[in-house]
Amino acid sequence: MTRLHKVVFPVAGLGTRFLPATKVVPKEMLPVLDRPLIQYAVDEAVDAGADTLVFVTNRYKHAIADYFDSAYELEETLEHAGKRKLLATIQGLLPLRVRCIYVTQERARGLGHAVLCARAVIGDEPFGIILPDDLILNDGPGALRQMAGRAADGKTGVLAVEEVPYADTGKYGIVDVEPGGDRIRHMVEKPSPAEAPSNLAVVGRYVLPPRIFDLLETTTPGAGGEIQLTDAIAALLKETPVLAHRFAGQRFDCGNKAGMVRATLHVAAADPELRHLVTGLPGTS
Ligand code: G1P
Repeated sequence: MTRLHKVVFPVAGLGTRFLPATKVVPKEMLPVLDRPLIQYAVDEAVDAGADTLVFVTNRYKHAIADYFDSAYELEETLEHAGKRKLLATIQGLLPLRVRCIYVTQERARGLGHAVLCARAVIGDEPFGIILPDDLILNDGPGALRQMAGRAADGKTGVLAVEEVPYADTGKYGIVDVEPGGDRIRHMVEKPSPAEAPSNLAVVGRYVLPPRIFDLLETTTPGAGGEIQLTDAIAALLKETPVLAHRFAGQRFDCGNKAGMVRATLHVAAADPELRHLVTGLPGTS
């Protein structure tokens, strides 16, 4: 397996779809049952081999760093109460070999800009990106690990894709893939259905070579007036192969309420104690 040592989590978004909760609680800390979205994302990165997690954050997101920090008083209380299982849970959020680095994105200038903020930490090696809003669940290797295996040469880019209804192309980066293969020929950010080259959408997982940073430096604001990662990848794929990866797993768009409810039902259906509450409801499997 190709290890991805460093994974970037752009977490500086405002999360307005979940106001008023996100007035105080970062959207990445909203739970699917009892685990925050960021925990699922971090677990997927660790599964792909990551030992350095880079959070691109801002002044409203301190809860994320607090969450991964040790909580001495709580640990001592649980220890004294003999609550060993809970103690192990909060002490085991990250393997010991993994370190967290927090980088500030001072202004919301787009996903491309957020990724560029991580440049100094990533340096000159391929890296992964996970957007925690896109929760991908499966029983086998995680989506990012599947992708890392396809970028073994250190130069190839890999993007997770899935088909979406044409009516939804305006919410995603949309790729145009070579016929009969998976090499991406072109990519557009949030096209209208009439302009979309296909209905194959990029979901929040990327494996990219460090060359992307040079391209981001010269990327001008695009869709929505923001510096788009999609535009820099559109430049990258003229130089080096960028592959569309149809991942094994089920994606939940937890950036909106319906996706969050579906994810919660799905996870509850797999929990022996909760299954009876949700079996047979739409959205469970
Ligand atoms: C971002 C990307 C888009 C991608 C999407 C996946 O958009 O810009 O290309 O398809 O994530 O979730 P956002 O959802 O941040 O608007």
